[in-house]
Amino acid sequence: EERTYIMVKPDGVERGLVGEIIKRFESKGYKLVALQLLPTSRELLNEHYCDLKDKSFFGKLINYMLSGPVVGMVWEGKDIVKTGRRLLGETDPLNSAPGTIRGDYCIDVGKNLCHGSDSVVSAQREISLWFPNGVLSWERHNVHKLIYE
Ligand code: GTP
Ligand code: MG
Repeated sequence: EERTYIMVKPDGVERGLVGEIIKRFESKGYKLVALQLLPTSRELLNEHYCDLKDKSFFGKLINYMLSGPVVGMVWEGKDIVKTGRRLLGETDPLNSAPGTIRGDYCIDVGKNLCHGSDSVVSAQREISLWFPNGVLSWERHNVHKLIYE
């Protein structure tokens, strides 16, 4: 089954939106396979955002991400990388539709609450970066058949 790495950024944790973000993934029907609250580090963030090193906003982004603890999660389900990003909304809240997390709860791209892996390959890389000890495999015996045809 496909997996993705979803992270509530420091602004989301401090604003008390962790439950709301988890709720949207749970209600959709996805399965939670890992969850942690942890302080970030410059090392982890440099690795996590290695594709953005040359961007003008990189320094600002790292300082933002270092401003408090984050909640990292791994969610599992059919096509979850793509659909997960759809639940988050566009990167810039200006373009995020109402009904999405960013569309409903934030205003600026530099305080956009959450992260979601952008491909299956990125998801695998991010999951092993943030959860080096691995994630859980478990079965939802009754629920599975109520969600998937
Ligand atoms: P993530 O899910 O966080 O990876 O966002 P994304 O994949 O939608 O966007 P991308 O990976 O291109 O950028 C990573 C993060 O950098 C964004 O989520 C923003 O927090 C931040 N960011 C991107 N573009 C800008 C920008 O123009 N200005 C500022 N200040 N931050 C930006
Ligand atoms: Mg990204």
